[in-house]
Amino acid sequence: KKPPSRKGSMADVPQDLLAQISRLEELFVVPTEKLKAISDHFVNELSKGLTTEGGSIPMNATWCMGMPDGNETGTFLALDMGGTNLRVCEITLLEAKGEFDIIQSKYKMPEELKTGTADELWGYVADCLQQFIEYHHPDEKIESLPLGFTFSYPATQEYIDHGILQRWTKGFDIDGVEGKDVVPPFEAALAERGVPIKLTALVNDTTGTMIASAYTDPEMKAGCIFGTGCNAAYMENVGSIPKLAHMNLDPDLPMAINCEWGAFDNEHKILPRTPYDIIIDKESPRPDQQAFEKMIAGLYLGEIFRLVVLDLHKTDCKMFDGQDISKLNKPYSLDASFLSAIEEDPFENLSETADLFQNKLSITPNRAELELVRRLAELIGTRAARLSACGVAAIAKKKGWTKCHVGADGSVFNKYPHFKVRGAQALKEILDWPADKGKGKGDPIEVLPAEDGSGVGAALIAALTMKRVAEGQH
Ligand code: GLC
Repeated sequence: KKPPSRKGSMADVPQDLLAQISRLEELFVVPTEKLKAISDHFVNELSKGLTTEGGSIPMNATWCMGMPDGNETGTFLALDMGGTNLRVCEITLLEAKGEFDIIQSKYKMPEELKTGTADELWGYVADCLQQFIEYHHPDEKIESLPLGFTFSYPATQEYIDHGILQRWTKGFDIDGVEGKDVVPPFEAALAERGVPIKLTALVNDTTGTMIASAYTDPEMKAGCIFGTGCNAAYMENVGSIPKLAHMNLDPDLPMAINCEWGAFDNEHKILPRTPYDIIIDKESPRPDQQAFEKMIAGLYLGEIFRLVVLDLHKTDCKMFDGQDISKLNKPYSLDASFLSAIEEDPFENLSETADLFQNKLSITPNRAELELVRRLAELIGTRAARLSACGVAAIAKKKGWTKCHVGADGSVFNKYPHFKVRGAQALKEILDWPADKGKGKGDPIEVLPAEDGSGVGAALIAALTMKRVAEGQH
């Protein structure tokens, strides 16, 4: 059903709230020219990150050195330590090209672990692995299973089976882990429990996403995550990575680069940050880090929304005047799914939105307030999608790609309404594609749902690594 025209419905909104909507539009709308400027700056930052001097984007070499050809075989464990869940998988890559079997278990990642101690973290992770093996292989004598560990945080790697955590992102704040190799304490926790696992590859979720997607689609050239965090990986030739020059490797070797582009514009030169973005940054456990991610990723979308609404309550327009807003005062109490639900609500009556405010926040919005929060959700969701396209466009420009597929995963990409279409539209504007191209499908550069990167991708990277080792390569 066609929604009623925006103009007509806005007549219901009182003037003071209308004025707020235009102020918010000023703040959150990112026009084409700005997108282009951001993505040009992004291209430079990607290149800088590959040099020895570096830049704000880490551009981490991952030692994942080649794409799969679909003929990989074997049985591998994959461990995904994401922000919300911990997932353990056992993956068998089958003889039939591009096919696999998978069994998996999900464990809740307790919120306290994210700000607890390193011992608690590694102990918990090892317990989950132990449980998985005991459950799926009872009474079996297992020698040693190779593991691809998807550790989705920025890590400096000199080898694929090690990684020094550069800094925690996505709200994690565990003392004594940053600046250290995460593998020895992880392996120690396994050894303490007698768990027969050998870590073969430490993998970023973006690299896993790229590799898993390329396993079934050779057009796939990069992997992106738009979820709790936001990041991308793609292949670069070693010869184009000046910071690896001292290693005297074959310049034609491919090397997956984990961009860690969440850190783009940490020095605040180009992104159109609003006062709300500045508050998010200041109040986060790592201020001055992940500037780009904090405007896009699922972890922050609900919080941006909450801060704006709170501001509208406190200022002249007195949104939710006279109501008890104590629940709204709690930081991070709204997540991206709250915004998703608002954006999905039919505009005619916005009854779902009214229920959400009632049930979650004990607030009863009037029609004008409902329309305003709907517009606000659209503005925040659209800005996230459009900004994320700047990163995709930048990689494509840097690599000179004019036609390819990019694999994408994550809760925002998969679940946030219109995210894909808005991103595709922005990509079209940045790259000046003719206006007659449809809504993303059939575009020269298509961002498509990826295969399971932290499961199958991590297993494939373990397989590729073991093959390289068996062949005596780096
Ligand atoms: C954060 C992490 C990065 C990860 C991304 C998506 O940006 O630093 O490593 O890829 O989130 O999960």
